Amino acid sequence: MRLLYIDCCVSQRGADSRTLGLAGAFWDAFRAEHPEAAIETVRLEALDLKPLTPADLDRRDGQAKGGDFSGPDFRLARSFQQADKIVVAAPFWDLSFPAILRVYIEHISANGLTYHYESDGCHGDCRASRLIYLTTGGDFERPHSLGVLYWKQLAAMFGIPRFDYVFAGGLDVDPARAPEILEAAGERARRLARTF
Ligand SMILES: Cc1cc2nc3c(=O)[nH]c(=O)nc-3n(C[C@H](O)[C@H](O)[C@H](O)COP(=O)(O)O)c2cc1C
Repeated sequence: MRLLYIDCCVSQRGADSRTLGLAGAFWDAFRAEHPEAAIETVRLEALDLKPLTPADLDRRDGQAKGGDFSGPDFRLARSFQQADKIVVAAPFWDLSFPAILRVYIEHISANGLTYHYESDGCHGDCRASRLIYLTTGGDFERPHSLGVLYWKQLAAMFGIPRFDYVFAGGLDVDPARAPEILEAAGERARRLARTF
């Protein structure tokens, strides 16, 4: 079982990051059930990720044309494609998430590896059965909150059948209520972790 954790907990709060805390609630509950599980963590802040340039795209297309996805250009896409279950954690920034996560998405979106086209449109080629998106936001959750919607649609595009999320929202509306909101969100994350 390959578990992939995409850690995009970029925060001024450091170890007190609320997003990191939410992700911690999830993983602590998961590890309590599966102490032996190996988790591949991709910490986006530690990677030197750059947005794709036209030259990068040409190089990738050249390799993809020959069906060769074995090189470093596709390293992140390969690990995403091969994961059995995936967790993504990121704060709600500027109506979606930090830009580094969008850059990561550029790197994992590889036609012919993580998805492909047929006459009726795009089909996903990722192995994962589940993807969970964990996020915290200053404002309350809205039905059109883009971070969650974006990952819901990405999961569908990549062929991942089950999508779940936890949005701890409203944390900056009334800071006095933040601890109770985070506790409730942490409990939702722990519940998801027990069946993950
Ligand atoms: C750069 C930046 C952009 C933000 N943009 C939004 C936003 O668009 N909507 C929102 O509800 N909260 C926004 N927030 C508030 C954060 O989502 C909120 O404080 C979150 O809990 C931060 O998580 P952290 O403790 O892990 O850093 C933003 C915060 C920062 C620093």
